[in-house]
Amino acid sequence: MTDLTGLQLTGFLGAAYPWVKAAHVTFVIFWMAGLLLVPRFYVYHHATTPGSAEDRAWIEREDRARTIILTPAMLIVWVLGLILAFHLDAWSQGWFIAKLVLVVALTGYQGWIAAYGKSLAGGKRALEDRTLRIMNEIPGIAAAVIVVLVIVRPF
Ligand code: HEM
Repeated sequence: MTDLTGLQLTGFLGAAYPWVKAAHVTFVIFWMAGLLLVPRFYVYHHATTPGSAEDRAWIEREDRARTIILTPAMLIVWVLGLILAFHLDAWSQGWFIAKLVLVVALTGYQGWIAAYGKSLAGGKRALEDRTLRIMNEIPGIAAAVIVVLVIVRPF
């Protein structure tokens, strides 16, 4: 196995380490896809009349995207990420702590997605379209910072 350091190989994962990391990054892609997709659905859903056929169709689409993509991907990213953290004993590394803070914030953002989806399904249109579009940018910015932290490790 090329250019894997002693630490990466000697942890409890051994030769499984690169496979676990590959699976982690794969589910990160699925999670990010869901975090970018569902708030965009909310922007389009906002334009529909509560109770209309189109409103019900968006409620159905959003619910499926949350239960089939968002929640499973988030849970798998967390489980594989924590396994990697224990394997590498990353707890004392600044880049990892900063990453963890951002990932906890992204998990909170997913909580907002679930709550806002419920209020939309209840016929409310609480936020301005412009605010919703700004909210939509948050996961992309967070993902860019997280990837820099984990690959560049600035501290
Ligand atoms: C949910 C909690 C998460 C935890 C506990 C976690 C933890 C980790 C750990 C310990 C590694 C291994 C680093 C290494 O092998 O040197 C890793 C790799 C990686 N993580 Fe996460 N991660 C999480 C979420 C995320 C998220 C949300 C993203 C992106 C948005 C992400 C992107 C990456 C990338 C790109 C790598 C590969 C880095 C490399 O090959 O050097 N992770 N993660």
